[in-house]
Amino acid sequence: MNIRKEVIFKMMDKELISRLADEHGTPFYLVDCESLVSQYEELKECLPSNSTIAYATKANYTPSVIRTFRDLGTRFDVFSQGELNLLMRNGCDLERVIYTSVAEQEEEFLFGLKNGVRRFVLGSINGINNFGRAAEREGAEGVEVLLRIQPVTNVDAAVSTSGIESKFGVVFSDEKDSVGNTLEAIAERGLDFAGFHFHLGSQIRSPDPYVKAINETLDFALAQDIEVRVLDVGGGFPVDYGFEVPPIEKFGAEIGKVIEKWRKKLGDFELTVEPGRFLTADSTVLVVRVVNEKEMYGRKVLIVDGSEDMVSVDRHEMRIEIEEITHSNEPVAASIAGNLCHSLDWIVKEPIELSGVEPGDLLVFEKEGAYVMNHNMPYNLRRVPKVLTVGEGEVKEEEHPFSTIGKIRVAYE
Ligand SMILES: Cc1ncc(COP(=O)(O)O)c(C=O)c1O
Repeated sequence: MNIRKEVIFKMMDKELISRLADEHGTPFYLVDCESLVSQYEELKECLPSNSTIAYATKANYTPSVIRTFRDLGTRFDVFSQGELNLLMRNGCDLERVIYTSVAEQEEEFLFGLKNGVRRFVLGSINGINNFGRAAEREGAEGVEVLLRIQPVTNVDAAVSTSGIESKFGVVFSDEKDSVGNTLEAIAERGLDFAGFHFHLGSQIRSPDPYVKAINETLDFALAQDIEVRVLDVGGGFPVDYGFEVPPIEKFGAEIGKVIEKWRKKLGDFELTVEPGRFLTADSTVLVVRVVNEKEMYGRKVLIVDGSEDMVSVDRHEMRIEIEEITHSNEPVAASIAGNLCHSLDWIVKEPIELSGVEPGDLLVFEKEGAYVMNHNMPYNLRRVPKVLTVGEGEVKEEEHPFSTIGKIRVAYE
């Protein structure tokens, strides 16, 4: 806990931020890699033995973030050939990848197999057939498959990935893409089935859905006499975005208890977790400059050189946290709008109390490290926010996810 406070204090070092704004221009993201390490250590400490942490790569593509997790020895949860390529360019060993896809195309399986991925998560009959063909062509020595299932529905989470709204994995009901049919297809293809995978959603508000899902899955495995070497419970651990969430220790303790209970019945197996948001959200701030102001319809509107897609706000159900770097302390109530020619481009629509902000001042938005910069839009062809990282006492400029795309080699050759 102490470590995290220190990290946030450092991120809020107003002198550093003002200097970086002058040197690099605005907007920019500032990522603190030490915060990733402290989040990782906090999580690791509360998980049971024989647990593996796989960083959900899609949460934040900054090269230093990837390299920090590489050096910590995590696995990586990966969703596309582009993400595989990003890991390759940052010196990660693809044997540490857990490859999940919703498209499940033969070409991506071939690409993954060829480049050393050794664990794939499958979630449809069609996907299993495509994977089987890729494995015949490329060879699948030492390659394990997990089956992605939906053991519970109606999960209490900001984003739920199970139930009728979900396209992921296979179901327990008697339909074509059922757990029974897909297990048969995996066996017919002679693939090495290692266990089950589920991912229930993001910002899950209590450990209960994990406990329920683990019980449902392993009850089924026991009843069907299915050997489970790996149980991957996905990500979803919540971040405090201004609304209270249970601490990670509570998730670790409840999951640990139920896993130990099952290990007594089934023997030891590996528990895998795939956090993205929990590891990265706190690591990053966005810095924008106020570039215009106006008064209309009885309120003040500040216009900044960033936009709604550059911050989390509505997308992640957060209570916004802003630090102002201003010339005066005079309180001002204002709405904050972005610089896009887009009517929905409001960062804060209802006026909020700020301290003395006027054109030329800086605003710093906290907790922007997860699923934010990879949603930035090219609309209006503005300057892409720079991505700066602090680590080991130096500030470095990094690739924005947009500039990564042009360099990605995705074809299977
Ligand atoms: C399969 C899978 N694993 C892990 C994650 C990470 O989720 P979170 O960032 O909420 O921990 C996701 C997010 O979409 C996912 O789809």
